[in-house]
Amino acid sequence: MRLLITGGLGFIGSNLVRHMLATYPSYEIINLDAQTYAGHPENLADVASNPKYKFVKGRIEDTELVNEIVSGRMFGKIDGIMNLAAESHVDRSIEDGAIFVRSNVMGTQALVEAAFKYGLEPGCKPGPDAKYSIKYMQISTDEVYGSLGPTGFFTEETPIQPSSPYSASKASSDMICQAYHHTYNLPVVITRCSNNYGPYQHPEKLIPLFINNLMNDKQVPVYGDGANIRDWLHVEDHCRAIDVVFHKGVSGQVYNVGGNNEKTNMYITKLLIKELGKTEALIKYVADRLGHDRRYAIDSSKIQRELGWTPKHTFETGIKQTIEWYTSNADWLNLVMSKSNVVPAVANAPAVAGVAN
Ligand SMILES: NC(=O)c1ccc[n+]([C@@H]2O[C@H](COP(=O)([O-])OP(=O)(O)OC[C@H]3O[C@@H](n4cnc5c(N)ncnc54)[C@H](O)[C@@H]3O)[C@@H](O)[C@H]2O)c1
Repeated sequence: MRLLITGGLGFIGSNLVRHMLATYPSYEIINLDAQTYAGHPENLADVASNPKYKFVKGRIEDTELVNEIVSGRMFGKIDGIMNLAAESHVDRSIEDGAIFVRSNVMGTQALVEAAFKYGLEPGCKPGPDAKYSIKYMQISTDEVYGSLGPTGFFTEETPIQPSSPYSASKASSDMICQAYHHTYNLPVVITRCSNNYGPYQHPEKLIPLFINNLMNDKQVPVYGDGANIRDWLHVEDHCRAIDVVFHKGVSGQVYNVGGNNEKTNMYITKLLIKELGKTEALIKYVADRLGHDRRYAIDSSKIQRELGWTPKHTFETGIKQTIEWYTSNADWLNLVMSKSNVVPAVANAPAVAGVAN
């Protein structure tokens, strides 16, 4: 099996590449990544010399490059695509949405088109009976569903109602994938996961940003009243969900993935302060994010019931392990910060620092 994983130098992508190489030693993994401010070769330094791992620097919306890889001309036949490459930070999308459309929407289009073009079995006509040799998987987000009130959960049937330019670009990419399935019978599976935490997350996102600031006795900027709720899942559990959906998911289906760990941003902030032995005087309230979704909570019973996935990490142990990872990897944090235009430490109204996703 030869898989194309896009965005493999990012947070989830690097954890996924590592997971796939360790779980399936016979698979060859090709990582296509543009190495944006969020993609760092250091995230995969430990597997860089693995003969089963190949890296291509490039953009997923570069149709020529994507066609070279997906056609098999570059490395040999591709059996599957897992698309994680994306601009992923809501605050950046509020600053400038254009790159989100280019990378997330046009990039997804280039990948599904290549899967369709080069995966269609010889002699097959596109349509309900068409057979393909390339499986396509889209890594999406619960944010496509919009915001919840104080009760209820997102199910796979919840209407798509994105509120930020980021989530709108992710919703558009989901719909492109579903259209290729519906129109051509392209084998497509989609996961929609809640907020991830764990090692190698870019320190523009809430948990690593706050750990980094607290480690340096700097203030932590909390949006609004801090009562926005996110549903947190350890990145390794997300990678296991991607693995199971890719191998066992039913073509055309969406699978929600979540950890049933609803926490307010203030809860997370105070927990990090306590675990790092700091004081709540370091909390700095800043003006709320524009259009800030109030609550996300995901019903992941379908993937649990149909594919047997369950999270292994509890939030309590996962967050302790995560804090331990960042405090032991200060060099990584400094390196990533120095290579990115992240607003440092505290700002009055941080443009790209504050609340994860
Ligand atoms: N982080 C979360 O909590 C979360 C939750 C659910 C879904 N997701 C989705 O999972 C995927 C990965 O998220 P992440 O948090 O790891 O993001 P990330 O920002 O850490 O990494 C994104 C990676 O994609 C690369 N990239 C960006 N644009 C590209 C392009 N046009 N062509 C090629 N490579 C490009 C970057 O260089 C980077 O390595 C995204 O699609 C995101 O929408 C993330």
